[in-house]
Amino acid sequence: MSNPRKVYLETYGCQMNLADSELVQGIMRNAGYERTAELAAADVVLVNTCAIRENAEQRIYGRLGDFRHYKRKNPGIVIGVLGCMAERLKRELMETDSWVDLVVGPDEYRRLPDLVGHALVGERGIAVRLSKVETYDDIEPLRTEGISAWVSIMRGCDKFCTFCVVPYTRGRERSRSLQSIVREVENLSARGFKEVTLLGQNVNSYRDLDGGYDFADLLDAVASVDSSMRVRFTTSHPQDMSTKLIETIAGRVNICNYVHLPVQSGSDRILELMNRSYTRAQYLERIIEIRNTIPAVSISTDIIAGFPTETEGDHQATLELLSDVRFDGAFTFKYSPREKTKAWALPDGVPEEMKIQRLNEIIDVQRSISATLNAQHIGQTVEVLVEGPSTKSTEDLCGRTESNRMVIFPRCDVEAGQYLMVEITRSNAATLFGSPLQGPRVAVQNSHSWISEEQA
Ligand code: SAH
Ligand code: SF4
Ligand code: F3S
Repeated sequence: MSNPRKVYLETYGCQMNLADSELVQGIMRNAGYERTAELAAADVVLVNTCAIRENAEQRIYGRLGDFRHYKRKNPGIVIGVLGCMAERLKRELMETDSWVDLVVGPDEYRRLPDLVGHALVGERGIAVRLSKVETYDDIEPLRTEGISAWVSIMRGCDKFCTFCVVPYTRGRERSRSLQSIVREVENLSARGFKEVTLLGQNVNSYRDLDGGYDFADLLDAVASVDSSMRVRFTTSHPQDMSTKLIETIAGRVNICNYVHLPVQSGSDRILELMNRSYTRAQYLERIIEIRNTIPAVSISTDIIAGFPTETEGDHQATLELLSDVRFDGAFTFKYSPREKTKAWALPDGVPEEMKIQRLNEIIDVQRSISATLNAQHIGQTVEVLVEGPSTKSTEDLCGRTESNRMVIFPRCDVEAGQYLMVEITRSNAATLFGSPLQGPRVAVQNSHSWISEEQA
């Protein structure tokens, strides 16, 4: 038998793209290809791309430039561009970058083995049709063994926020069946995974239409598979954050008490222009309900600075919202106009320097809040799911709390995937540091007593 062809895959963008890359490797494996982590060993090089902001695309263009040089020296290899940039630019990518052999959008990955096969004999190909039904429900992703797994539960997005390219690159919203997701999680549990993150652009609008299940039902079913397995999910949309869902999170010990709830802006006028479908007051009501229902919950958010027509007053409203809510963390972005979106047509009125200044002000306010909230953990004992060596020091290990805080502690007799109690001794805005208290436990403790009573 001849040696199997090898596939090297690089991934950019969100967690959905990471999950898609595992799916792509699963599809290629089923067609007889082998995965490789070494570019030099690859017959096929795939780049799974992101189009969310201009700077994301610029970074990828830079990397594609490297691959162009590489291909010049190794003309036999096949180079494919996958994902959201492939879907956004379509034929344009084939035309401007003649060295690219394949352009394949997120709903066409089943065709990859065929397209790659043709490309290996010199035939370039493009497949960028979006589908209303494709969920890849029957395909097993090729994962690397570890403690944490992504599980994609739905695809696409129907929200059409006016700044966002995702509905155009990922198409209409559609969900996998509850049964197949639960089966996948059962397999992950049997393989020793200790954490699953359910993924979708807007997980709370998950619907298994045949079974009549919503996201709360799914979360409950997934959490009951293995009580020693942590369950996370992202991203939630404020509009669909139902009371039933909040109660489900509160009701299951192994559903992490952590919610990522992007607000984007603190100004009602901007929220309306963004088509976010909630007001500041409605958002704050959700926050209060979440905090009143889920013990010691952590909440993070996304913010966009400098949306078209944003005034100093709108910006101040965002800063005030940050101070009012006191999020545990925030992902902050400078507005980037995206072609095809509704906001593209709005005058991009905020000058670049002002966008940067506002972004920096947002980052400063949030950093100080995160630092204060993290410092409240000093002296407390937290339960950590051990992930492995810390990236900064070989003397240290790292792991996460249920509330998704990174904890660094000195190396001790514990393995990745075990739970460990750690006493926190110091902190900064991003990380907690501490010392391990006792040997590893095997199951999630049925108590939250070690957490501070109020992180608000
Ligand atoms: N589906 C998720 C996340 C989508 S992308 C959600 O609705 O929350 C992640 C974040 O990128 C968004 O929450 C938003 O804050 C940011 N983002 C999306 N489009 C952007 C754009 N054109 N410019 C700047 N930030 C953007
Ligand atoms: Fe984009 Fe809005 Fe959909 Fe999130 S909910 S993916 S921001 S359109
Ligand atoms: Fe980027 Fe596509 Fe995700 S645009 S953020 S990779 S859905």
